Amino acid sequence: MKVNLILIFLITFVLIKISTQCNQDWECGNAPYTVCLKQREILPGLQIDKNNGNLLLLSNFKGKTEKFICSLAISGGNGNIQNEFQITSDIEGGSGFRTINRLYAYLESSDLVYTRSSERLSAVIAINYPNGTYNPIWYPRGFNLGLNFDETNQKTYSCEFDLVVYNKLITNGGIYGSEEYLYRNGRCQFLGRVGQNLYLADRDFSGNGTVIRKGVTTCRECQISQLTTVHSSNRNLKGFTHSETDLYYSDENAIYRVNINSGVDTVLLSQSQTQDLVYHSGYIYFTTMDHKIFKLNVNTLNSEILYDGSSSSPTSVSGSGSCACSPGFKGAQCNQCDSGNIIWSGGFPECINLDQNGFPSKCLYDWQCSIPYGYCSNSFCQCRSNFYGNQCQSCDGTVSWNSGFPTCAL
Ligand SMILES: *[C@@H]1O[C@H](CO)[C@@H](O)[C@H](O)[C@H]1NC(C)=O
Ligand SMILES: *[C@@H]1O[C@H](CO)[C@@H](O)[C@H](O)[C@H]1NC(C)=O
Repeated sequence: MKVNLILIFLITFVLIKISTQCNQDWECGNAPYTVCLKQREILPGLQIDKNNGNLLLLSNFKGKTEKFICSLAISGGNGNIQNEFQITSDIEGGSGFRTINRLYAYLESSDLVYTRSSERLSAVIAINYPNGTYNPIWYPRGFNLGLNFDETNQKTYSCEFDLVVYNKLITNGGIYGSEEYLYRNGRCQFLGRVGQNLYLADRDFSGNGTVIRKGVTTCRECQISQLTTVHSSNRNLKGFTHSETDLYYSDENAIYRVNINSGVDTVLLSQSQTQDLVYHSGYIYFTTMDHKIFKLNVNTLNSEILYDGSSSSPTSVSGSGSCACSPGFKGAQCNQCDSGNIIWSGGFPECINLDQNGFPSKCLYDWQCSIPYGYCSNSFCQCRSNFYGNQCQSCDGTVSWNSGFPTCAL
């Protein structure tokens, strides 16, 4: 009896193993509704969610295009990255092409996620809501724009052309004109704040090198010459973060610590391929280009690895992926899309929610939006002029037809 139980246990265990571990989508039973999720790639941008003790990051599964805002516990998480929500603002092709490339900021009290995308080759910083709503705000000329959100006092600082303050948390576009000028020409790539002091980290005027300047939140209509230089070097500024007492930045070779008062710098850690870093409560958390996440104690300099998605890590060994339903799908066969419409993209189905007009909340082609009454523009279904309602077929005036398309004259 005992032996039988062990045998049953072993057989069950082996079966479960076979049915959940995978290397290819077809091994998961009902491809393309099922997918094999292998190791995660970590995209730029690392934020802290203090309330939940998590890091927030942007990632995709190797070989898959869907990107997710994810969380990873800063202690005791065993490298387990959880999807928080899927990014639906990417537009795969066409003139509206848009692709997200950085998790830019996270506001914990307001629970807002700011991301950077590349849109027709220019950068846009936007809010991505978990329900798919996308609010573009800044279109910075440079690749990086220093932003600092003061949730306690409901202020937003930015240093796009000048260092300015908005007397609210910026959550929608159309912001220009409501700002107060702190330092004219005070541009920067990263903006830190400790009490009333602002720290502007930027490339040197010569185009390379790093300079960190200091100003105060109370200055108005001041000049860039009134900022004091805390630190400068000929290193390439890649990432920036700070505590109350130290500023930290990285280049291709190392992470550096700069004393906030003296400006004296030391190498904190020789580390190549650093992608992003963020300070929280005695630790620097950082990601690397080869998809690892580290936790570094800034006092003892002990570091531990929180996640390893590099090609040499054990999780990337052949056959070690796990089977899952394609994003949005559920059910035993993974082919249930209860709340939406199935849209095919690149040979893969996506289950997309419907909007109040009964259209998918994201589209690629006009036919997905009930032509001839609707059409697809910038990945959203739109009604033709003056049409509204279910499938855009309502018109409060007279409908006339021309070349197969309706016009609604009021
Ligand atoms: C998504 O959430 C945001 C913020 O709560 C809200 O303003 C927006 O209307 C929501 N969009 C949809 C389609 O529900
Ligand atoms: C910038 O790069 C040029 C060419 O490599 C070099 O001559 C110059 O010294 C650098 N400037 C700084 C501030 O590092």
